[in-house]
Amino acid sequence: MYQRRLINHFESLPTLDAEDLNIVDHLHKEGVFVTSLEAFDASLASAFLPQATQLKQSLIQTDKPEHYRQPYVLATPSQVVQYPETFLFGLNERLLKIAENYLGLPVAYHGMYFHRDFTNALPKKSKLWHRDMEDYRSFKVVLYLSDIFDDAHGPIQYIPKKITESVVQKIKYRYGYVNDSLMSKNLSGSTWKSCLGSSGTMIFIDTATLFHRGKVPSATDRFAAFFDYTSRYPKRPYYCKSSLPDNTLKMMAAQVSNDQKNCLLWRQANR
Ligand SMILES: [Fe+2]
Repeated sequence: MYQRRLINHFESLPTLDAEDLNIVDHLHKEGVFVTSLEAFDASLASAFLPQATQLKQSLIQTDKPEHYRQPYVLATPSQVVQYPETFLFGLNERLLKIAENYLGLPVAYHGMYFHRDFTNALPKKSKLWHRDMEDYRSFKVVLYLSDIFDDAHGPIQYIPKKITESVVQKIKYRYGYVNDSLMSKNLSGSTWKSCLGSSGTMIFIDTATLFHRGKVPSATDRFAAFFDYTSRYPKRPYYCKSSLPDNTLKMMAAQVSNDQKNCLLWRQANR
């Protein structure tokens, strides 16, 4: 069914210019492409960054609860609605066209997760090696909102595509999280890669294809925004959640075009 859908949708894929085709090409070959928001689109950067900086400030001002055991906190929906340009960034038409070409199918936008990751937290959940399992391919855009110049600043790390495939076979991986000791036994530490860059670095990554994790920072808390997409026919729709509750989604949907609305309210668009 998935293969048939890809074939049927092929003729309807939006056309891309050479720069964006290059991004899609990199994702197919490597599963990852790194640039900067400024280089990608300066006018988009000027809409997104001022509100993202304010949202970051409100996360800095939110005290970490005492004995807090999670490795990160997320901006709450009520914080996000105060800075709608952050969430709406994920619906910009150029990004959606790139996503559709990579996924090969109509796009579902699952929203923005705005992270503050704490230093020296116990590695749990997305801090451990895993592949996302919602769909056959995933499309994720990550924007760093603090400088991440080395592993102490908590970069996104991934295992290159070919090596991911061989590790999957070796450890008979199906889904879930893999701890460091099991991973280290099955590949040398130097084979995984860190996405490094200053604040404003923009990463495109297929988190369903590559083993990946967020390295727990040790130097400073890490700030980053994650924008999540799959096809509108995900392999496991019950794992697909929106970052915002229904009433807020509808509020956001009122501000965008019909095509963007269909990405946002994709469950309804599928009916
Ligand atoms: Fe993930």
